[in-house]
Amino acid sequence: ATHSLLILPGDGIGPEVMAEVRRVIDWFAANKGIAFDVSEDLVGGAAYDAHGTPLTDETLAKAQEVDAVLLGAVGGPKYDNLDFSVKPERGLLRLRKEMDLFSNLRPAQCFDALADFSSLKRDVVAGLDIVIVRELTSGVYFGEPRGIHKEGNERVGINTQRYTESEIARVARSAFELAKKRSNKVCSMEKANVMESGILWRDVVQEIHDTEYPEVELTHMYADNGAMQLVRAPKQFDVIVTDNLFGDVLSDCAAMLTGSLGMLPSASLGLPMANGKPKAMYEPVHGSAPDIAGQGKANPIACILSFAMALRYSFDEGEAADLLEGAVEKVLADGVRTADLMGPEGGTPVSTTEMGDAILA
Ligand code: NAI
Ligand code: MG
Repeated sequence: ATHSLLILPGDGIGPEVMAEVRRVIDWFAANKGIAFDVSEDLVGGAAYDAHGTPLTDETLAKAQEVDAVLLGAVGGPKYDNLDFSVKPERGLLRLRKEMDLFSNLRPAQCFDALADFSSLKRDVVAGLDIVIVRELTSGVYFGEPRGIHKEGNERVGINTQRYTESEIARVARSAFELAKKRSNKVCSMEKANVMESGILWRDVVQEIHDTEYPEVELTHMYADNGAMQLVRAPKQFDVIVTDNLFGDVLSDCAAMLTGSLGMLPSASLGLPMANGKPKAMYEPVHGSAPDIAGQGKANPIACILSFAMALRYSFDEGEAADLLEGAVEKVLADGVRTADLMGPEGGTPVSTTEMGDAILA
């Protein structure tokens, strides 16, 4: 089958790191006979410059149709004073909202060669490979009622943690599907001891497990203990599924287990399309890095690993994903480093393109 992919390089270092992904795609097409149907379009500031909007309806329509969207980064000082309605970030937010990307995947993968970059001891993190699945479109950041109002002579701030069964069920399915492509293990985190939404969360996740995914190993953990375990012994986990608020905190915490921002990929998934595959957008966690844009210094690995996730989760090309991740691991083990990966011992950093060359080789 041909895999359709929409590439949106965006702004700043986005196009620079995406150029290396294009070379990786060409390599797989030429050497492994994997057929891609790749189209490319503008997003963010680049789209604003050309069309006066950070995301055109045509681009959005294309994003809704393809097997996967791969986005670089958006934003930059040039656009900081634009009206909010046309800011580069709005393009990204509109994509997420219109595609209804409710399941946010944040892997924390620690390559052995970079274990000393972690804030934790090498033994705790070397070889770590987990994914946090965060519910992204509901929960306490969206629940009503919300607001600040006066009660007697003081102000009260209110947010509401609210989850429907179907919102929990769909993110649970997304986590179980993911686990089937990994080590078949899911840990669900909530606070069912003190929150009604936590009781419902635990209930629904268990029910989806029992009726649809009995072959996957499911455990439950209170989120505060989960935070402790993530730092104490993160390798006990494979897939962690949790709500929007706990997922926000836990995924940032997990990111620091691994080191540089230039290494972190992510994915956002929606409901299955007619072909059974979920709507999907893959992107590095980092932004457009205006401080190094245009200088050939950007680390392309986060974007390349985002493409590896697309291979695994949208294209069912697990072997190709293994090969690509293995190439990244090998290059790092060989000591090839972009500037952001230089330790205190120093050395000569390679450029964005040279990192791409090494991975291809
Ligand atoms: P940033 O992630 O762009 O940069 C933070 C720091 O990390 C900078 O020093 C940068 O040079 C470095 N860095 C980031 N990616 C790197 C890479 N691949 N290789 C080497 N070094 C890297 O975050 P910042 O500076 O807060 O935001 C810059 C712009 O990016 C802003 O306009 C912001 O709104 C936008 N942004 C966009 C995101 C997206 O498109 N998803 C996410 C975060 C920020
Ligand atoms: Mg956060």
